[in-house]
Amino acid sequence: MKTVRLSLRTLLIGVIGFLTYTNLFASNVVVSPNGNLALEFNLSSDGMPIYNLSFKGSEVVKTSKLGLRFTNVDDMTSGFTFVKADTSSFDETWTPVWGEESEIRNHYNSLFVTLKQPANEHIMQIEFRVFDDGMGFRYVFPEQPKLDYMYIKEECSEFAMTGDHIAYWIPGDYDTQEYEYTVCLLSKIREKYEAVLELDNASTTPISPTCVQTALTMKTSEGLYLNIHEAALIDYSCMHLTLDEKTLTFTSTLTPDGTGMMGYIQAPCVTPWRTVIVSENAAGILASRITLNLNEPCKIEDTSWIKPFKYMGIWWEMISGKGTWAYTNDYPSVKLGYTDYNKCTPNGTHSANTANAKRYIDFASEHGFHHLLIEGWNIGWEDWVGDWKEDVFDFVTPYPDFDLEEVLAYAKAHDVELIMHHETSGSTRNYERRLDTAYQFMVDHGYHSVKSGYVGPMIPRGFHHYDQWCNNHYLYCVTKAADYKICVNAHEATRPTGICRTYPNLVGNESARGTEYEAFQGNSPHHTLTLPFTRLIGGPMDYTPGIFDLYIQNENRKPGSPRVSTTLTKQLALYVTMYSPIQMAADLPENYAKHLDAFQFIKDVAVDWQKSLYLEAEPAEYLTIARKEKGGERWFIGGITAENARHSRFALDFLDKGVKYEATIYRDGDKADYETNPLDYKIEKKIVTSKSKLDIALARSGGFAISIVPIADKK
Ligand code: NOJ
Ligand code: CA
Repeated sequence: MKTVRLSLRTLLIGVIGFLTYTNLFASNVVVSPNGNLALEFNLSSDGMPIYNLSFKGSEVVKTSKLGLRFTNVDDMTSGFTFVKADTSSFDETWTPVWGEESEIRNHYNSLFVTLKQPANEHIMQIEFRVFDDGMGFRYVFPEQPKLDYMYIKEECSEFAMTGDHIAYWIPGDYDTQEYEYTVCLLSKIREKYEAVLELDNASTTPISPTCVQTALTMKTSEGLYLNIHEAALIDYSCMHLTLDEKTLTFTSTLTPDGTGMMGYIQAPCVTPWRTVIVSENAAGILASRITLNLNEPCKIEDTSWIKPFKYMGIWWEMISGKGTWAYTNDYPSVKLGYTDYNKCTPNGTHSANTANAKRYIDFASEHGFHHLLIEGWNIGWEDWVGDWKEDVFDFVTPYPDFDLEEVLAYAKAHDVELIMHHETSGSTRNYERRLDTAYQFMVDHGYHSVKSGYVGPMIPRGFHHYDQWCNNHYLYCVTKAADYKICVNAHEATRPTGICRTYPNLVGNESARGTEYEAFQGNSPHHTLTLPFTRLIGGPMDYTPGIFDLYIQNENRKPGSPRVSTTLTKQLALYVTMYSPIQMAADLPENYAKHLDAFQFIKDVAVDWQKSLYLEAEPAEYLTIARKEKGGERWFIGGITAENARHSRFALDFLDKGVKYEATIYRDGDKADYETNPLDYKIEKKIVTSKSKLDIALARSGGFAISIVPIADKK
């Protein structure tokens, strides 16, 4: 491995450090395996840890400070002396249980510096890993005689940008990520901030006018793409980034808990990784696997029970207002153990009733879906959010009109497995107390996966969705679920940081603005063009695509309510562009029945991949991805565009040479337009080979989806 001490280049960069921090005490450089990225670590004359990052000889992160401040021990931001630097290299290829590709290379050079504050003999180490596509660093506190508990006041990790980059951002918030993305120069974030705050969310705690969330993607004026995020967020609070507009420097901003503390750690321990992905093209941001690579290998020994799946659900009915989760309108409030549901009048709109469940099971089974989510099956929904209430749900008692045993038997007879739903309403203590009972109930009734949710302010009161305690709660639920062989898809939980490598039963998270907002306030056409470059960097999203009733027509919708801002074939494309090992066909059976020809793509598309190729990519503008299914020879391609109509042109040279395939192309019709004609689509079949080139027109906020099957495989 190439580790250079004080090379000429280092010295030159050191001059910058010298200008800023007066003197260099020690300098270490580690370069990526291909030599393109160089990370330099220094101590300034007053013992402040600093670093910078260069790509092909030009800085991408200017000299930036490192360190932490505490309430109970001396700050670890300066006064350090250099003890030693260890370097090493690592190269392995590992096999994810599920993913965008069947093998992932984890190849980096590392620098591990040990620093000491002579005044108190505290030791802090900083570990850097430099990959070809980015770098990560974390703080390490080894076991030591004079340092034990540390109460974090502030993490001072900086990311000093080299210019006024274009940022694709959502506001920093301690409780939600369900925002629209804004695209603007770093210097304009403050100006745009107020406009993006208009969020009708049950729990939102925005931080400050220049604080943004990770994963944050940026584009420099030289056309370089950067992404800042974190990996392995475990036993620590979630990091946001606050911009100093004068210096264009981001500083990490942790999430406080109910006591105002940013975190509590005890040596020996490590912090999560802070990551920077660097790429000359936007596709490189999508292809980077450093977030997964910086997580620990899988800790679940037998993973044979963890399988990707597609699912339908009794869900969009409630989201779009056609039906309700609640069983009755008689009670303004309900209380577990007191409310007698047999003494009230059913409201007639409760969607999770036995007959409706059977209707969904019939449709799912007829169309080859093996999983069905049923929300609103359990008592408590009359009064589930808005008040401080500890025991919102018990997770085991069905409503009187939902005959669980009958529905389960019917599902089994139709080869359909039910997905459990646990809305916690943010009452995490209630959920933890009942977790074993709830998971055992699932096992006893043949459920293997759960969608959980955290709508509303957190209990313990004053705690935040992204604080250390809540992050520990989510992981507790996932690890305990593994004991019961249960897969978890958690909504409103903290955004993923690659933990699914270690616990692959974490098959999904929402943690962003999903399809549900198409029925609430609407999603902009560029939303799904931004998510893959931002939120999805940490892990898959349960975006729940596949809405065909783009006008959201039901008797309860008020005139002027938002409707879906895409064409129909863009909805199909999302099954490829929005990676997830679980994919929902979110619309109602009756809406799919009207477009069974287009529905065929959702039935066919795979959910687990051998390889993924990012053919065309530009954040917030366009994206085309081709993926080959795992364990088969079929390819699926999805292409989407934002506000602008465009042509997608690409070669199929990735197909096997000499093989003939049948391509089924689902594309926008000639008159398609997301505002005026979203349901105009065309389906064409053609023979293609590795020599074929495609040219497909996409409408405004349109898209296309293609399935490509070797002719020999066709029945
Ligand atoms: C918000 C989730 O995102 C949504 O999918 C779910 O239906 C509701 N909470 C109710 O749990
Ligand atoms: Ca949500």
